[in-house]
Amino acid sequence: MHAETVARTGGRELKRIVFTEQRIRERVRQMGEEIAAAYPPDEELLVLGLLKGSFIFLADLVRQIRRPLQVDFLSAASYGGATVSSGDVRLLYDPEASLQGRHVVLAEDIVDSGNTINRLVPLLQARSPCSLEICALLHKRLTTHLAREPRWVGFEAPREFLVGYGLDFSENFRHLPFIASL
Ligand code: IMP
Ligand code: MG
Repeated sequence: MHAETVARTGGRELKRIVFTEQRIRERVRQMGEEIAAAYPPDEELLVLGLLKGSFIFLADLVRQIRRPLQVDFLSAASYGGATVSSGDVRLLYDPEASLQGRHVVLAEDIVDSGNTINRLVPLLQARSPCSLEICALLHKRLTTHLAREPRWVGFEAPREFLVGYGLDFSENFRHLPFIASL
């Protein structure tokens, strides 16, 4: 491993870098442009970040959306320290912002089992947004039973456990500027 990475991980071994910092930056820039182009400039856009995993993605993404928008967060935890989905999604924080009549883009780090999306979409839809779309940085394509397919996907993800750029393993590795497999 690169010395800089060793410093960040304390020497804990990563298998390989899957998406480099530069590749992520370029893709997030494209996604920001696509999102900006998708909505009438005079209508309200709310970008809702799903914590904690999307925090870096969201921060980078909204800075690439060149139009007025607002940001809020919600948190839905489906994993403890495990690397497989438990299927049990807990909503830990409700967005303060009213969704009614606004275009909502839900920013997610990664779509894995789809449980999170399948639980959240009906909850958010019930608040009568003008539209609701999902923007996922990564998609593992493990399921065909999604309540809503993300309109924007950054990368097709390998079916490995990934960390970095917001993604964690037991709360570690979120701060890596790239995405690696464990
Ligand atoms: P889902 O509900 O199974 O689709 O999983 C969604 C959530 O699980 C994501 O928002 C992540 O927080 C977490 N997750 C799923 N796959 C991975 C992974 O490969 N690395 C880290 N976290 C993951
Ligand atoms: Mg997690």
